[in-house]
Amino acid sequence: MRNRTFFHLFLLVVLFLVSSTVFSQITDFPPDTVVGVPVNYTEAHVGKYTLPDPLVLADGQDVENADTWMKKRRGEIITLFEQNQFGTTPAMLKNIRYDVFDHQSTAFDGKAKRTQVTIYFSKDANEPKLDVLFYTPAHTMKPVPLLLYISFRANSMAVDDPGVRQGYYWNREHKRVPATGKGPWKPLEVQPILDAGYGFATIYYGDIEPDFAEGAQYGIRSLVDKNTDSPEQPDASGSFAVWSWGLSRVLDYFEKDKSVDAKRVAIMGVSRLGKTVIWAGALDERFAMVIPVCSGESGAALSRRNYGETIAHIASPKRYAYWFAPRYQDYAADPNLLPVDAHMLLSLIAPRPLLLITGNTDKWSDPYGEFLAAVAAEPTFNLFGKKGLQTKNHPPAGEAILHDIGYYMHDGGHGMVPEDWQVIVEFMQMHLGK
Ligand code: GCU
Repeated sequence: MRNRTFFHLFLLVVLFLVSSTVFSQITDFPPDTVVGVPVNYTEAHVGKYTLPDPLVLADGQDVENADTWMKKRRGEIITLFEQNQFGTTPAMLKNIRYDVFDHQSTAFDGKAKRTQVTIYFSKDANEPKLDVLFYTPAHTMKPVPLLLYISFRANSMAVDDPGVRQGYYWNREHKRVPATGKGPWKPLEVQPILDAGYGFATIYYGDIEPDFAEGAQYGIRSLVDKNTDSPEQPDASGSFAVWSWGLSRVLDYFEKDKSVDAKRVAIMGVSRLGKTVIWAGALDERFAMVIPVCSGESGAALSRRNYGETIAHIASPKRYAYWFAPRYQDYAADPNLLPVDAHMLLSLIAPRPLLLITGNTDKWSDPYGEFLAAVAAEPTFNLFGKKGLQTKNHPPAGEAILHDIGYYMHDGGHGMVPEDWQVIVEFMQMHLGK
């Protein structure tokens, strides 16, 4: 009797291992419930779905070359994302100015030069303003390629450098308070990027607009013309539209600063800020490379896949409805009605290099769903003679595929692990020069 039980248990374990290898290298997980909506973590229960074809124009014609993609299809897809998911992109503001209050100072024991700039978005210095902190390698004379990181932390909390001016951050009570101390986090790993000869910049997303439902009144949206950007419209901008807009304004500054090669700026962010960098890179073709880490639902993971977080979870009014255009709500009950999906968002980065970083235990973000989106974005990259992942087999954790599309699933959960930095440097070296 005992032997039989053991045998059954053994069979179950084998089946479990085989099915998880075949499907995705990710083991199943018991279901959960978030905002009253069940969360599926069983690959076999994902169900069937059909992805819209990125390479068919609205009038039904096929997109056969890069020219048609760039001139016609790219714009159509951007409009679909604006109308249905992220909302319209804020218009340019007229009175933007820069205050470079720290220029090329010595930092990190002489290994780097530090620059700090405040971007003022209006004539009123008390209105929303954005602090940019960046480092360039100490001994470079030429403009350097740079990694621009959008962070959850004020600059003075993000790095271990006493020369950084203390910023402000939005606390849990939705108050803007001085960013004293470092908080519980480890400082950002700036050194591997500088050692590779690149610059590194960081900004705090809350400077652009704070991350809560009423945050719009304190950020960029408080400055835009309400007649043209009415928050009542179904395609009114959500937070992602605004944070992405802010990233482009940092690039505007880099175009004016001779220490940075603005044609070789990569953008990177984790989680909700991973979603932000994809949309920023999709909208603004000046960004040379896009690196979303664990961006998950409404980022790089397919929304049509019922695995981990879904639109019903993310866009719930009890959670993050304000991140999106009001119309995104229409797709919570059935994501198949959404005219776009993550593979089309990733296609918008083509022909520029795109590196997806995920984690094998970050099931909420659906790492396999990100892989599948990258696979479905490949034909768009191919139009430009660029290489996608060139496989339909999900690589195991720790094994990077680095082409023009890159995919790396680290062994670990949501967020970054130290090995991610090595993969990022390698990917930058492949595409941005050494
Ligand atoms: C929540 C949210 C995710 C998001 C994450 C984050 O978990 O559901 O979609 O990516 O927060 O930004 O940390």
